[in-house]
Amino acid sequence: MTGTMIGVIGGSGLYDIEGLEGAEWVTVDSPWGAPSDAILTGTLGDVRMAFLPRHGRGHVHSPTTVPYRANIDALKRLGVTDVISVSACGSFREEMAPGDFVIVDQFIDRTFAREKSFFGTGFVAHVSVAHPTCPRLGDACENAAKDAGITVHRGGTYLAMEGPQFSTLAESKMYRNVWGCDVIGMTNMPEAKLAREAELCYASVAMITDYDSWHPDHGEVDVTQIIATLMGNADKARNMVSRLPALLTPDRTPCHHGCDRALEFAVLTAPE
Ligand code: ADE
Repeated sequence: MTGTMIGVIGGSGLYDIEGLEGAEWVTVDSPWGAPSDAILTGTLGDVRMAFLPRHGRGHVHSPTTVPYRANIDALKRLGVTDVISVSACGSFREEMAPGDFVIVDQFIDRTFAREKSFFGTGFVAHVSVAHPTCPRLGDACENAAKDAGITVHRGGTYLAMEGPQFSTLAESKMYRNVWGCDVIGMTNMPEAKLAREAELCYASVAMITDYDSWHPDHGEVDVTQIIATLMGNADKARNMVSRLPALLTPDRTPCHHGCDRALEFAVLTAPE
């Protein structure tokens, strides 16, 4: 067994991992409350895996009510070193089409009704999220997606919106034309920030389901259209995930990009 443990946070449509050996759903307690669901653990080859359905089985948590802090904390407690976030998104780019995957590397966080930090009263820390994703994990996701025959775009800015409603046409045009965003979704924030605070490597694989509302030929986005694309995307995502362990060995400790040492220069509270 290697020291690497891959944690996959699955979005809408993705509820398990293909070919998991010794699969077992385990309940993990966290001081931050209950995670979205039990966590499916097991191994792929000689790499330990943990899978957490972000919205819970049966899709019971909305993007606003997902317990992001408990989820990241539970994965950390299990020993996860590398978090792969898989989620649905809308596209602001003609060339980024429904069915394609995007390895997101930047975010604009427009969420406002979620707990965003492990640090507050009594213990204050300010981590850098200038580069919120781990390029090494991004490489593995890109290669795994390519090997699985998926059309994958490397790099992109993800607008994280609160929801649950989709964007207005004016918002959609502003995010695309003025802010230069590439995709939009409701779940990657504060997840990415919390992963950094927990000193976990984090990569985001955004699976495009629609063109949001800006595209003159595609009309408004609706859930039926999203679900139809989601099902195909989820099969592709399962295929991609099953290829990750081979691409993430041998061990990489310490992370070349410093994700696993994010708190080294971030703590302000004086030691007792
Ligand atoms: N998830 C999937 N498509 C989306 C969109 N257009 N806006 C926000 N979240 C999404």
